[in-house]
Amino acid sequence: MRVLSGIQPSGKLHLGNFYGAMREHIRLQEQHDCFYFIANYHSLNTIQDAERLRGLTADVAIDYLAMGLDPKRVKLFRQSDVPEVTELAWILATVTGKGLLERATSYKDKVARGIAASMGLFSYPLLMAADILIYRSDRVPVGKDQLQHIEMAQDMAAYFNNTYKCEALKRPEPMLGEAPIVPGVDGQKMSKSYGNMIDIFGEEKPARKRIMSIVTDSKGVDEPKDPDTCNVFALLKLMAEPAEVAEWRDRYTAGGMGYGEAKKRLAELYEERFGSRRAIRADWAARPDDVEDILREGARQARAVAIDVMAEVRAACGIVKAST
Ligand code: TYM
Repeated sequence: MRVLSGIQPSGKLHLGNFYGAMREHIRLQEQHDCFYFIANYHSLNTIQDAERLRGLTADVAIDYLAMGLDPKRVKLFRQSDVPEVTELAWILATVTGKGLLERATSYKDKVARGIAASMGLFSYPLLMAADILIYRSDRVPVGKDQLQHIEMAQDMAAYFNNTYKCEALKRPEPMLGEAPIVPGVDGQKMSKSYGNMIDIFGEEKPARKRIMSIVTDSKGVDEPKDPDTCNVFALLKLMAEPAEVAEWRDRYTAGGMGYGEAKKRLAELYEERFGSRRAIRADWAARPDDVEDILREGARQARAVAIDVMAEVRAACGIVKAST
């Protein structure tokens, strides 16, 4: 089975990216043909500073490697190293109605929050569909916020195949992991655009401070508490072993426990999970040539697939390419 997913280099990666996507990506490498890329073309919508974009792009690769991605099993690459993807995005635009894109909730949400509605932001789902369809992906593991975009990719594949009476594009299926919506410190979905993140590679002290600032209700120590509506518990559930999670659940419902205690344990678990990887991350960060080799090789393999699919797409719609 071919598995594909992408992460934007639009800021430091956070627990939402990790538990919603990256952890699944790394798990899936054991059994499947995995393509993971750094969506740098998408990030041009928000990062318009060349130096910063270069840095953040490298950071995503380094974070993946530090968290256990095996570059021998996975094709890890930059979106822009397969330029055919922008060609497919254009071709998809010609068979897709504007109404489909106007229904994109993530676009509407961003515009409602005052973000300028560039054509890049509006046509974002076209490029994302091209990312998925150009590798004939079977499954796309993502967080819930990306689900609608994958449904749009399914629609666009059907529009193209129906228009040109062909089977050039394969219908992809989304794949949600155990944590489709990871909450941020304020209880909304954790997101760079809400500023409520806990970074996966934060320094110990600021990360602890951030964890201690997670919003809870105002129940006193003695009162019984509801674990299922608590933002701290939601994160404990992701980080602790099942037996410990069960213990916390009992302590919540019994009363006699303050939220501060749960937060302290969460900070410890954070250090165990991510703090222990800081040195591995620093090691990868000190070997930019090795990281570059991994990205180059990933792109070479991914591009070979993209070139074949594009040849079929062009043939289906009558775009003639000069032979080289
Ligand atoms: P991006 O960069 O915003 O997020 C990367 C991945 O992290 C997931 N995620 C979350 N999951 C659960 N809870 C959260 N709070 C949370 N925050 C982020 C996202 O769902 C995503 O899986 N458009 C994509 C990048 C992309 C892509 C693609 C993905 C471009 N082309 C093709 C899949 C296939 C995005 O902006 O993700």
